[in-house]
Amino acid sequence: MHKLYISNLSEHVGEEVTVKGWVFNKRSSGKIKFLILRDGSGYLQCIYFKGNVTPEVFELADKIGQESAVEVTGKVKAEPRSPGGFELDATGLSIIHETHDYPITPKEHGVEFLMDKRHLWLRSSRQVAIMKIRHRIIKAIRDFFDDRGFTLMDSPILTPSACEGTSTLFSTDYFDLGKAYLTQSGQLYAEAGALALGKVYTFGPTFRAEKSKTRRHLTEFWMVEPEVAFADLDSDMDLAEEFLEYIVQTVLKDRAEELKTLERDITSLQKVVRPFPRISYDEAVDILHKNGVEFEWGNDFGAPDETVISSQYDRPVMVHRYPSEVKAFYMKRDPNNPKVALAVDVLAPEGYGEIIGGSQREDDLEVLLGRIKEHELPMEDFEWYLDLRRFGSVPHAGFGLGVERTVAWICGLEHVRETIPFARMIYRKTP
Ligand code: 4AD
Ligand code: MG
Repeated sequence: MHKLYISNLSEHVGEEVTVKGWVFNKRSSGKIKFLILRDGSGYLQCIYFKGNVTPEVFELADKIGQESAVEVTGKVKAEPRSPGGFELDATGLSIIHETHDYPITPKEHGVEFLMDKRHLWLRSSRQVAIMKIRHRIIKAIRDFFDDRGFTLMDSPILTPSACEGTSTLFSTDYFDLGKAYLTQSGQLYAEAGALALGKVYTFGPTFRAEKSKTRRHLTEFWMVEPEVAFADLDSDMDLAEEFLEYIVQTVLKDRAEELKTLERDITSLQKVVRPFPRISYDEAVDILHKNGVEFEWGNDFGAPDETVISSQYDRPVMVHRYPSEVKAFYMKRDPNNPKVALAVDVLAPEGYGEIIGGSQREDDLEVLLGRIKEHELPMEDFEWYLDLRRFGSVPHAGFGLGVERTVAWICGLEHVRETIPFARMIYRKTP
């Protein structure tokens, strides 16, 4: 017989069933004991009436510790007021593993304590909801690109060089070949892929030795990076807005229950439909000035600046054409204004900041050579990349979406540390 999960109980109303799980919570009122069982698929209230069960079972239902693993038996009853919509008129209770003094109780705990106990904290209803939404977002990402003719092309994690600036590189000794670096982005390889396969995406962990201790920074995070041949900045923005609308609307449709658990205000998510506003960096600077923010043209936006800019809109805003000085070496300059790069950042609403960074790429060999020199990057490590401009170079563009910032935004979380199963930050590498 197949193992029965709580989420499938609707097919078994009126039947006697056995369910395995963990004791999530319990309460008692005289002759009745309530056990809330969780099994990962859902929650089930099991009711033990003193008159209906043996004294041993009744006693066990009273004494059993939170997070003990158990097997319960009883009859499934529809109960609209119950979590999940069903209850169990329980008769049997047997122990798989008994435990007492589980460190995370239903009362409040500090975040650092919970992060230390992350391996257990993941069992809480809130964390389960976040992980289910994260999974749905990841599947939506894959479905979106797979359904549009993109090929998934994995990029290496150990790399010879920097993609996003040398100041945030993690390095390791690599046999006789000197240093290797943990990848900051799969983009350079995605570009090779786009020229081979037309449209590709890379999707994997990326690393930044970020000294920033903020609510948006992890040292290890997941990034999806589409790259398209024969594409310019405008079509890159078209792709980004269609992509974000798809992700948000899919989560709203398929993970309504989990969003409710998180008490997420979904009205703001419902507004995430195309078209998104598109403003230039210059216009964004004007917004800052009009709101009394001191900001000098040529700087990059900080988190508070992004919040002011995005608060003007009820959906994600695409800010394009940043000063090329603050952007990466591979970005193409605007032929109409070489001071700015054909770059775009997508800022999420509600103060969640940049979730996408992208650009049209420099496709001219000579210009790119000059940029690599300006940025003092080791030319020999970029020879292969320059080949992409020597043999069949075409206009091409792409972007990167950070999964954790997207999960934080959609779930309405304060900090990215809760969006990934085991967060890595400047001050944390355990558990
Ligand atoms: O803007 P970034 O640095 O862009 C790139 O890496 C490009 N190579 C992408 C491309 O064009 N293919 O990073 C892209 C996104 C950011 O918008 C953000 O969502 C996320 O990656 N990100 C981080 N997320 C968590 N912690 C960090 N330290 C992050 N750094 C970037
Ligand atoms: Mg960026």
